[in-house]
Amino acid sequence: MTTFPQPPPGLEAQALVQWAADTFREDLALACSAGVEDSVLVHLAAQTGHRVRVFMLDTGRLHPETHETFDRLRLSYPQLRFEVYSPEADEVEALVAGQGLFGFRDSLVARHTCCEVRKLAPLRRALAGSRAWLTGLRREQSPTRADLLATEPDGGSPERLKVAPLLDWDLARTWAFVSKHHIPTHPLHQAGFPSIGCAPCTRAIEPGEDLRAGRWWWERPEHKECGLHNRPGKA
Ligand code: ADX
Ligand code: SF4
Repeated sequence: MTTFPQPPPGLEAQALVQWAADTFREDLALACSAGVEDSVLVHLAAQTGHRVRVFMLDTGRLHPETHETFDRLRLSYPQLRFEVYSPEADEVEALVAGQGLFGFRDSLVARHTCCEVRKLAPLRRALAGSRAWLTGLRREQSPTRADLLATEPDGGSPERLKVAPLLDWDLARTWAFVSKHHIPTHPLHQAGFPSIGCAPCTRAIEPGEDLRAGRWWWERPEHKECGLHNRPGKA
């Protein structure tokens, strides 16, 4: 089993991002979906003095607003490196030939197949060579995330460390931070989308619904993961 460097316990978000950047340097990457949590992370990474690599997985089914927000972040933080990873064209063509453009609605297996081609395969390329990555996961987001730790071996690749600096932040604190620091944010958040993924698999939520109710809304809550954040042995 890989043993990882561990941060001192109880570090606040900025200190944890600094620790990750100082510890892993070129081998650290930041996964940015352009959601509000990732806007915070980009800002924190920009304060570290390291040219942290920020990557987006462009599944081919994202909202145009997601691209625009990612690009606004790129222009606002030139001290970081922004990259976009896309799925392989031949794999997308085979996927669509097999299950159509909306086959992911038919079954959990078909949905996972689509996420594998459009998200997980690009993720593996984005993280090749990285020993650690930063994500905007928060415990409050879902039952599958309630027992997350600030640092965990990556479920997809146990020799890589996954760091979640915003683990204990609630939505109010997250929004107060982006507002205070004038950080670009995704406009769909103001239209009832607290959690934003691919356009055909994301809808606005109604008042009182939980934060991820608009993601894969036809599936049960414990299934609402695309594989980016699978945690072997956990729910
Ligand atoms: S997902 O697995 O359900 O899609 P979610 O949208 O909650 O994840 O985002 C959690 C974290 O995963 C984000 O803060 C970000 O770090 C990473 N992430 C999710 N989608 C992408 C993406 N398309 N590109 C890069 N990182 C992503
Ligand atoms: Fe496909 Fe939906 Fe997964 Fe995006 S979220 S990769 S469209 S199944």
